[in-house]
Amino acid sequence: MNRAIEPSRILETGFGFWNSKILLTAVEFEVFTRLSNKAMTGEALGAALGLHPRGIWDFFDALVALGFLDKEGTGPEALYRNTAETAQFLDKNQPTYVGGILEMLNARLFRFWDDLGSALRTGKPQNEIKHSQKPLFEVLYEDFPRLDQFMSAMRGISLANFQEFVEKFDFSNYKTLCDVGGATGLLSSLVAKRHSHMRCTTFDLPVVEPIATKWISRENLSDRVDVVSGDFLKDPLPKADVITMGMILHDWNLERKKYLIQSAYDALPEKGAFVAIENLIDDERRENAFGLMMSLNMLIEFGDAFDFTGADFRAWCREAGFKRFEILRLKGPCSAAIAYKE
Ligand SMILES: C[S@@+](CC[C@H](N)C(=O)[O-])C[C@H]1O[C@@H](n2cnc3c(N)ncnc32)[C@H](O)[C@@H]1O
Repeated sequence: MNRAIEPSRILETGFGFWNSKILLTAVEFEVFTRLSNKAMTGEALGAALGLHPRGIWDFFDALVALGFLDKEGTGPEALYRNTAETAQFLDKNQPTYVGGILEMLNARLFRFWDDLGSALRTGKPQNEIKHSQKPLFEVLYEDFPRLDQFMSAMRGISLANFQEFVEKFDFSNYKTLCDVGGATGLLSSLVAKRHSHMRCTTFDLPVVEPIATKWISRENLSDRVDVVSGDFLKDPLPKADVITMGMILHDWNLERKKYLIQSAYDALPEKGAFVAIENLIDDERRENAFGLMMSLNMLIEFGDAFDFTGADFRAWCREAGFKRFEILRLKGPCSAAIAYKE
C-alpha cells in the first residue's frame, strides 16, 4: 500500500451526513436558542428540550466535539453553552440568525437528496413535485408556514453575500435599483441602508408581498424601499438603473434564463447594470464544489434548472445586447456577475 495516501477524506465525506444531521437536529430542537447566553447542565438542557435521557450526553457532547457547543467541566455537573458562532448565528432571537436555511435543509432537502440517484437516472426533480406534479414555487407557497420557512431560509443563505455586494459594488453612478425575486426585501433594504442616495424596489410574487412589507417596515425603510408584485415570467420588470437577481437565474432552464436576462436588459436605461448573485461555477468547472452541488440541488428541485459559469453568463448576456462584464467575488463560493449595457 502507498503510505503517502490515505482514505480519511473519503471516509470523512462518506460519514458527512452524521455531522450534518446532528447540527440540523440541534437547530430543529432549538438547542442554541434555548441556551441563548446561559449555561445549562446536560440534564437541564435535555429536560427543557423534552429529550429521552439515553441520547442527551452523546448528542450534546458530539455538538461540543464538532465545535458547535462549549462545555465547562466534566460529568453530569458540566455546563454547556453556545460558542461565539452559535450564539450569533443560531439563536433565533438574534437578528443575525442564519438557521432558516438549515431548517429547510432538515425539513425538505435532507430527504430529497436521498433520491439523488433517481434524479441522475431520470433527470427529474425529486422534491414535493414528485407527488403533487405542481411547480415548486406553487407547492412551497400553498401554505404560509412553508412559505415563511423558505423566505427565512433565503435570508440565511444570502445575508453575508448581500452585505459583501453592498460594500463592493460602486453605486455612485446610479439612483435606483430593482431586486427581482427579492423575497423579504433583504438586498433592497441593505442597499438603501448603506447608500442613502439609492431608492429601491423589491419585486416578487403577490403572495410574498405581506412578508416583504413586514420585514421592510421592521427596518424602518418603508419610505425608501417599494414593494411591487408581479410575475417575472409574464410581466415586464420595473424600470431601474440597476437590476439585481439573487439566486434567480439558477432556478430556471436555459430558455427562461435567457428570457429573464432579456427582460432585465429591456427594463434598464442606456447606462444600466444587471447583476446576478449566484454560486457562479468557475469556467473550468473544477473548483467551485459548492456551486456544482447547488446545480445538482437544482436538478433535485426543478429537473431542468442548473447553475452556470461566468463564461455562460457573459455569453447569454452578450446575446441580449449587454456590452461589458465584470465578476465580483463575494463570500465563499458566491459571486456577483455583472453585465453593463455600455
Ligand atoms: C431562490 S429565491 C431567491 C430570493 C432572494 N433573491 C435571495 O437571493 O435570497 C427565488 C425568489 O424568486 C421568487 N419568484 C419565483 N417565481 C417568481 C415569479 N414567477 N415572479 C416573481 N418572483 C418569483 C420567489 O418567490 C423567491 O422569492
